[in-house]
Amino acid sequence: MIKIALPKGRIAKESLEIFSRIFETKIEFDDRKLILEKHNFLFMLVRSQDVATYVYHQAADIGIVGLDVLEEHPLKVVKLMNLNIGKCRVVVGARADGGIDYLKPRIKIATKMPHITLRYFSQKAIPVDVIKLYGSIELAPLVGLSDGIVDIVETGDTMRQNNLIEVEKIMDSSAHLICNLNSFYAKKNEILSLCAKIQKEL
Ligand code: PRP
Repeated sequence: MIKIALPKGRIAKESLEIFSRIFETKIEFDDRKLILEKHNFLFMLVRSQDVATYVYHQAADIGIVGLDVLEEHPLKVVKLMNLNIGKCRVVVGARADGGIDYLKPRIKIATKMPHITLRYFSQKAIPVDVIKLYGSIELAPLVGLSDGIVDIVETGDTMRQNNLIEVEKIMDSSAHLICNLNSFYAKKNEILSLCAKIQKEL
C-alpha cells in the first residue's frame, strides 16, 4: 500500500483529478472524512503546510506540496517530480501609490511566510521587521500595519483589487510530488510506476 498526503485547498482538487484519471474512478473524500482507501492506496487530506511533515515522519510515503510551502518549512524529503499544477509566485508587494521606501532604516513586511521573507531580505542586506499574519495579507499595507507584504500571487486579482503592485518576485512555485527516503527505497518500484502514470496524465 502507498500512503499519499494531499493538501487541502487550491492544489487538492487538481491532484484528486489526476488520481481519479489514473484509477479510472472518482477519488473523492466523503464530507468531513480525512482518510480514504482505494486500490491499495491510502489517501489522506492534510493542511498544505503539513504535507511534508507527514511525509518526513513516514506517516505518508509520498505527498503533494507547493515549492513555496517546502521552502518555508524545509524538511529533508525527495522531490520526485514537478506536477506543474498550483502554479503561483511569491512576491514582494506594496501600495500602488507608494511602493516601498528602502531608504527607511527598517521596513515592516507582513507575511505568512516569515522564513522566506527573512532569508530574502537578509540576502539583500535590507533590515526588516517581519509581521506574521495568517491570511488576508494584502490588507496590511492598506491600513498601515506594514510597508509591504511578501505573499503568493496566482492570478494577481487580490493584489490588483486592493491597489497593490508587485515590487519584486522572490520565487516561482508549483506543486511537486515528494517522498521520504525510506519509502523511496522500500517501495521504489511502486512509487516509480505511479510517477510514470502521473506523468502520462499531466
Ligand atoms: C492566497 C494569497 C493571496 C491570494 C492570491 O491567499 O495569500 O491572498 O491567494 O491569489 P490571486 O493572485 O489569484 O488573487 P488564500 O486564498 O490562500 O487566502 P488567505 O488570505 O486566507 O491566505
